[in-house]
Amino acid sequence: MSPASASAVVLSVVGARPNFMKLAPVAAALSRRPGVRHLVVHTGQHYDPEMSDAIFRDLGLPTPDVDLEVGSGSHAQQTAAIMQRFEPVLIESRPDIILVYGDVNSTVAAALVAAKLGVRVGHVEAGLRSGDWSMPEEINRVVTDRLSDLLFAPSRDAVANLRAEGVPAERIHFVGNVMIDSLVRLLPDARQRAPWGAHGLSERSYVLVTLHRPSNVDDPAVFREVLAAVEEIGSCHPVLFPVHPRTRARMTAASWAPRGSAVRLLDPVSYIEMLGLTAGAGLVVTDSGGVQEETSFLGVPCLTVRPNTERPVTLTAGTNRLVPSERAAIVAAAKQQWSRYAAGPCAIERWDGGTGERIAGVVCGGERFE
Ligand code: UD1
Repeated sequence: MSPASASAVVLSVVGARPNFMKLAPVAAALSRRPGVRHLVVHTGQHYDPEMSDAIFRDLGLPTPDVDLEVGSGSHAQQTAAIMQRFEPVLIESRPDIILVYGDVNSTVAAALVAAKLGVRVGHVEAGLRSGDWSMPEEINRVVTDRLSDLLFAPSRDAVANLRAEGVPAERIHFVGNVMIDSLVRLLPDARQRAPWGAHGLSERSYVLVTLHRPSNVDDPAVFREVLAAVEEIGSCHPVLFPVHPRTRARMTAASWAPRGSAVRLLDPVSYIEMLGLTAGAGLVVTDSGGVQEETSFLGVPCLTVRPNTERPVTLTAGTNRLVPSERAAIVAAAKQQWSRYAAGPCAIERWDGGTGERIAGVVCGGERFE
C-alpha cells in the first residue's frame, strides 16, 4: 500500500465531542507537512454549542470545511443521514485517504461510504475492544477496523486485538494515544485556570462525575441506582456533575433533581474546563471512554461504572477501576479510591504527546510504527 504522496489531499471526518480532541493533534501535524491539503468534514452528530463549537475553540481547530448537519436520530437514521450526505462530498473532494476517529456513529458511517467508493480509510484509535456487543460503540469499532487500510492503535493490547482478528501487521501502526497529545498541550492552561475555584472548591476536595452511556441512563431503574450512589457520595464530598444532553433528558423524564446542594449539576463544560476539573479532582466517577484515559495519564483515581472496558491498559497501568451500576458498589469503591493518586509520570507506552506527528508520518511519509 503506497502512502499518500507529497501533494496529498487528506480528509478527516468528525462528528461527536470525543472526536474533536483526537482530530486536533492530527490536524496540527498535517498542517506542518508541505504539500498536504487537509479537509475537515463535521457530520453535525453533535451540534449544541457546548458539545461542539466550544470544544473546537478550546482546541484551536478551524471551522470545518463542510458541515453535514445531520443532528440527532435513531442509530439507523443518524448513520444513514451521514452516509447520504457524505457520499457527494467525498466524490467531489476526491481525497487520497480519509481519516476517521474513535467509535461513534460518524466514524463507521464515513468509513463505510469511503470503502464502497474505493477511497482508503485510516482509523485513529483502532483495535480497542470491550467484547460487549450490546454497546453501539463496539459495533462501530469492529466494523470500522474491518473497513480500514491504516489502523492507528493507541496501545499494545489494541495491536494484539487486531492481529488476533487477522488484520495484516503492515496495516497496523502502534502510534500511541492521540487524545493525550491534546491533553499534554492544554494541561498547563487548564491547571492555571483552576476551574474548581468558580464553584467555591479547592483542588482535590471534590468528586467529578460524568455519565451518559445508554447502559447507565436509559433504563430508569439502573439510572436511579447510579444517581442514588452519586447523592450518597455527595454526602461525603462535593460533587461536580457536568450533564450530557442524553443524561439531562433522562433526568427530566424521571423528574429527578439532587436533594440539597452537595451535587451540583452543570451544563456540559468546554474541553479546557473539563481537563482542569479532571486534573484537580479527588476522584472521578464516569462511564466515558476518554475520561478513563485522561485520569490514568494524570494519576487521578477513576471509577468506571461499567462491566467492561475497551481500554484495559487503564486498569493494568493506570488508575482506573471498574464498578457495576449498583449504588452500594459505587459508594464502597468511591470510599476506597478517594484521594489515591498515582505518583509520578504516566508510564503507558507512547502516551507522550507525539501521536499526531506519528500519524502524519504514516499518512504522508509512509513511516512505520510497530
Ligand atoms: C455519542 C457516541 C458515544 C460518545 C458520546 C460522547 C455514538 C453511537 N455514541 O453518544 O460513543 O461517548 O457521543 O458525547 O455515536 N444531543 C443534544 N445535543 C447534541 C448532541 C446530542 O441535545 O449536540 C442529544 C440528543 O437528544 C440525542 C442525544 O443527545 O438524541 C444523544 O446523542 P447521540 O449523538 O445520538 O449519542 P451520544 O449519547 O451523545
